[in-house]
Amino acid sequence: VDLQPVKGTRDFYPDAMRVRNWITDAWRRVSLRNGFEEYDSPIFEYLDLFEAKSGPEIAQQLFSFTDRGGRRLAIRPETTPALARMVNAKVNSLPRPIKWFSISRLCRAENPQKGRLREFFQWNIDILGEPSPQADAECVLVAIDGLRELGLTAGETKIRYGSRALVSVVLRAAAVGDEQIPGVLNVLDKRDKVPPKTFEAMLRDAVPPEGARKGILRFLEATELDAAAVAAALGGKLSSENAAAIEAAVNDLRQFQAALASFAVADWCEYAPGIVRGLAYYTGIVYEVFDASQSLRALAGGGRYNNLLETLGGPALVGTGFGMGDVVLGILLQERGKLPSEDAKNFPGQRLDFFVIDADGSSAEQVLAVVAALRRGGVSADFSYKRQPLGKQLKEANRRAALRAAICRGETVTVKDLASGQQVDRPVEQFLARPLG
Ligand code: HAM
Repeated sequence: VDLQPVKGTRDFYPDAMRVRNWITDAWRRVSLRNGFEEYDSPIFEYLDLFEAKSGPEIAQQLFSFTDRGGRRLAIRPETTPALARMVNAKVNSLPRPIKWFSISRLCRAENPQKGRLREFFQWNIDILGEPSPQADAECVLVAIDGLRELGLTAGETKIRYGSRALVSVVLRAAAVGDEQIPGVLNVLDKRDKVPPKTFEAMLRDAVPPEGARKGILRFLEATELDAAAVAAALGGKLSSENAAAIEAAVNDLRQFQAALASFAVADWCEYAPGIVRGLAYYTGIVYEVFDASQSLRALAGGGRYNNLLETLGGPALVGTGFGMGDVVLGILLQERGKLPSEDAKNFPGQRLDFFVIDADGSSAEQVLAVVAALRRGGVSADFSYKRQPLGKQLKEANRRAALRAAICRGETVTVKDLASGQQVDRPVEQFLARPLG
């Protein structure tokens, strides 16, 4: 029997768990204060849901199995298709817009590497039923609120956004056939992820005519957002249909930028025409969050998906949102010295309120009564089973990061604040009746 955790998975001992909770607590706090409600979906689903909707890359990374009834199932690699399925099922009774969040445990059969594991946690923020680019910008605002809550600044991260709608017209204008577009988008998604030579070869395979390739590359290099510049990159000859589609996509991006400015987060974000995202269902504005030097994999990614609910048999309800993983985020926080050290003292919400002490070796019964009274009173309290001198027990109280000690000596309980050293004596009977004073 191999007793190691499977590669790409993690054991969370209590000290690592404190750090994980510190991150997920921040995600939850931020979601709620931005007006999102929490949901969750099953840990496994029908394989089809992900195979069809997430696209080929995720399909290759599925942990799938067949149950005893012959059903083909998969552990969830992401939550967006399940969110769409859940919303579709109750769509008529849900007030719009639907602003939901989840913090899910996901699995992808990836090759484990820095920032990418086979099991991880992902925070999802989604708005359904709101077509305006303000909703895309609001999701970005929430992502930034999350980064900020964990201590990261505009200088330490960057959000690079583009438009899959715009890139799709560019490809169409460069004579890429509609059925080829998803494949070419997948190649473009790899531009910053594979060596330049590999990318060139992939693009050559996907778009054989050199002229078309040059036009696409010129578009990817132009960082100003302007319909005329897009047309110029493509050589200027556009059908009126393509010109109108470019105009519309640029307009969406402009409104998105204006909303980012109103939300006062424009300095966190930059236009990057090459951002198209790897998942199949995106249709509009898309973005990825990186560390400032882009030396790590993406911390988060998301965008607009206006057809997903409809392709799953629902109404034409539009959606937009992102997912942020805990792995790259943890690495970046560590590198920037922003992760609290694992010492329990650094996690205020997770500290012990009282450590209860037997001062003279003969007050063990009082200790049990006091511990129970405190717990009944709604505060956390613990004690030592060992008979130990007072000093050792105080040391243990410190190790457990207790805020106070309740020191029992016969008929007296001394409550000692372990930070200030201040203490008061109380009769044990009175303490048991009103442990919190
Ligand atoms: P995604 O880009 O596949 O998007 O994943 C989003 C984030 O999840 C990544 O940026 C990364 O932080 C984290 N992540 C993904 N795979 C792994 C892995 N193997 N190990 C560690 N972290 C990972 C989605 O999943 C979309 N469903 C997000 C979304 C929500 N779009 C709209 N709403």
